[in-house]
Amino acid sequence: MLQLKSEQYPVCSLDSGGFKPEPAVFVVFGATGDLSHRKIFPALFDLFLGGILPEDLLMVGFARKDLDHKKFREGLRQGCASFARAAAFDEEQWKRFSSRVYYLRSDLEDSRGYVRLADVLAGRENGFFKAIDAIPKNILFYLAVGPEHFGTISDRLGEAGLGSRRDRGGQRAAPGVKSAPRQGWRRLVVEKPYGRDGESAKELTAVLQRSFAERDIYRIDHYLGKETVQNLLYLRFANSVFEPIWNRHHIEAIDISVFETVGIGDRGGYYDSAGAARDMLQNHLIQLMCLTTMEPPASLDPENIHNEKVKVLQSIAPYSPASLLARALRGQYVRGVDAEGRSLPGYREETRVKPDSSTETYVALTLELDNWRFAGVPIRLRTGKAFASKFSQIVIHFKKPPAALFTAQCGESLINNTLTIQIQPNEGVWLRFNAKIPGMSAIKANELRFSFKEVSEYLPEAYERLIADALAGDSTLFIRADESQQAWRIVDTLEAAWAKADPGAPPAKGGLLFYPAGSPIPEIGS
Ligand code: BG6
Repeated sequence: MLQLKSEQYPVCSLDSGGFKPEPAVFVVFGATGDLSHRKIFPALFDLFLGGILPEDLLMVGFARKDLDHKKFREGLRQGCASFARAAAFDEEQWKRFSSRVYYLRSDLEDSRGYVRLADVLAGRENGFFKAIDAIPKNILFYLAVGPEHFGTISDRLGEAGLGSRRDRGGQRAAPGVKSAPRQGWRRLVVEKPYGRDGESAKELTAVLQRSFAERDIYRIDHYLGKETVQNLLYLRFANSVFEPIWNRHHIEAIDISVFETVGIGDRGGYYDSAGAARDMLQNHLIQLMCLTTMEPPASLDPENIHNEKVKVLQSIAPYSPASLLARALRGQYVRGVDAEGRSLPGYREETRVKPDSSTETYVALTLELDNWRFAGVPIRLRTGKAFASKFSQIVIHFKKPPAALFTAQCGESLINNTLTIQIQPNEGVWLRFNAKIPGMSAIKANELRFSFKEVSEYLPEAYERLIADALAGDSTLFIRADESQQAWRIVDTLEAAWAKADPGAPPAKGGLLFYPAGSPIPEIGS
């Protein structure tokens, strides 16, 4: 185990372009839904407890349920008590936090709701924000609703003069730039799924851009908010030991894996028309690949980072459908048992799943980048549900040393060096290396393990970071429209090839593999 003496080292706090959460009204659409209840408001509460939320932030829930401010707060209280990170629920703090939470009841379609929202935000409705002297001018709209509502809400906001495009009556200010006193910024945070394919993502972007300028649109990929994912840039570019070997000369392969123990639960309605490639590969896995392989950006400016990620995606060869099929595997879980011997349902038995569905719950895809740094290095992306263990990790496999000395004698038993970036659980970085066995002329692999938990009492939730960044105008951890579009290019080709393939065909020709729920993680290539 690597013994860290971190207290003896200085801390360097980054001046990330002066980004700091700014006072705003935080409006949540779908405020009574699961995401608000489990993630958004608990994250806001944690940010409040941590002193990160601006004191004068106001929060408004916008949803169709017939509630008043008080009842809405009561509902949130339970979510925050169960899901916020804070060890013990502090009543006093909750009172202070919830006194800044309000509720506006409206149908998501009904333009009158948006006109009223505009009145409320402009302070034209007396008595809505009780005991609040000043309403912040900045407004953040958070779309925690199903994707079918994204366009409607954005359009209605634009029509009500709440968008950020001046030509639609909206107002905008550049991120990080202090707004003129009476002119606040307007930002739109959009949850996933962002489109069902490239075409629909493009259409959605065009709709959102009718009311909001691209730089005011924040597309969420919650993986980017995870501390261990953010650490990728720090690990690669704040150290001099990794970067010189981070290329095809030294790296043999890269594995990016996200496995889950849960099945699809009650999300059959959405999942059956999505599948693992759309749900996980198009966003989380491809984003991890970009951060692992991109060139150093010119600076930490968000646009520079987005540009480098786009370059990675542009360098993925335009695979033909047949070659993509040969590089991919798709699978679906069938009835199985978990480690305790409890029976687990098969995918086709889940609610709102077609009984003959060929939707994949497991996908493996090997890509190669046609660029100078990584040409010829296989990047194996794998994700699946209902497996025996849950973990997300990136493993960099380094090449073996030259044959002289040890490799020639040991052959396969001389293990390659690997660097594992463990995203979750047991967040950390592990280096595998060979060492002598004391007292013997023999070699064995060992691991240096760095664990974030050893150096930090807590790891903030992804949503805390993302919400704070959106309030600060820092889009680094969000997805720009062209990134999403480029990622769809790959997934669209794969989906089209699968749609034509016979699910009963051999796996390399697009056939569907069946695996029992609770199966061990498959070997690479199976
Ligand atoms: C979501 C997917 O984006 O990520 C889910 O829609 C998946 O299907 C989830 O379960 C996994 O996230 P995490 O943070 O638990 O790895």
